[in-house]
Amino acid sequence: MTTLPPGFIPFSQVLATGPSAGPAKVYAVVNQSGGAGKTTSAVNIAACAAEYGWRTLIVDGDAQCDASVACGYEPDELEQPTLYDVLLDVATFEETIVPALAGRFGGEGTVAIENLYIALASSNLEDAEQLLATRVGREFWLRGLIDAVRDKFDLIIIDCPGNLGLYVVNAIVASDEVIGCVKPGWKELRALTRIEAKIEELQRVLAGVKAHLSKVLVVDVPSHRSQGAVYDDSKKTVASAYEEQMLPMIRRSPRIPEAYAAQKPLRFYDRAGEATQNYYDVTKALGFRRRTP
Ligand SMILES: Nc1ncnc2c1ncn2[C@@H]1O[C@H](COP(=O)(O)OP(=O)(O)OP(=O)(O)O)[C@@H](O)[C@H]1O
Ligand SMILES: [Mg+2]
Repeated sequence: MTTLPPGFIPFSQVLATGPSAGPAKVYAVVNQSGGAGKTTSAVNIAACAAEYGWRTLIVDGDAQCDASVACGYEPDELEQPTLYDVLLDVATFEETIVPALAGRFGGEGTVAIENLYIALASSNLEDAEQLLATRVGREFWLRGLIDAVRDKFDLIIIDCPGNLGLYVVNAIVASDEVIGCVKPGWKELRALTRIEAKIEELQRVLAGVKAHLSKVLVVDVPSHRSQGAVYDDSKKTVASAYEEQMLPMIRRSPRIPEAYAAQKPLRFYDRAGEATQNYYDVTKALGFRRRTP
């Protein structure tokens, strides 16, 4: 039998006994290309906000399950319901929500992280686009789920897969604001323009879309593309084109993939590291400073 980690409080129990929170601010972390630092950012901003006293939920809708893995879970190996079961109407959204962990579920020394929860993904979410396509109100499915738990959290961060498909449309429609997460580079700068165009299209054709590209987060993810002068220029261009929206930049750090492999948010792996500090700064820039009791 798997041993539950210390501090593990099922969300249903928190609902029954925990102090009230919310209504949550909802962010979607978006970029149509893969490997832009979306999941790393969603998980680490959420972990910093949780430390500052904000009850936070990460929503993992990506069939790669990277956010779930980063928070200690291998959802395909557990019997825990995931968003896929919600799509099939065999589980409720609340049943997918579990405490985020520092360390692997069932592993020695693993603890539940105070104030931090995750709605789990699973690999069968690859079918999500098809399942969503046939639903009535197909762009609003996730908004319905999230609106129902808004009062239980202070902050909800939706980690998106690397595309602008129907699930990501759901995430944008469900959110108050979109964080465009980009690597420094010319191609990446164009990605921001495409995200803005997508949001504008959604605002035009669907009623009640509140989200806009309110924040841009540049993450210095290692890249195979040429760097040097072109790279420096592109960083400056992103900063000047999106001056108002720029969040503090996340530096490159080998500790980031190491923390992912250890299934821990950075603050539990490399607390004093520069990238960790960058994520605290981003969290504060989003308005989630340490909460005073
Ligand atoms: N600042 C950084 N320094 C070094 N490595 C990083 C940094 N940020 C992210 N990484 C690494 O880069 C890879 C891609 O990051 P991540 O998984 O967060 O991107 P993503 O946008 O979520 O990708 P996908 O679209 O596939 O979901 C991962 O291996 C991650 O550990
Ligand atoms: Mg990801």
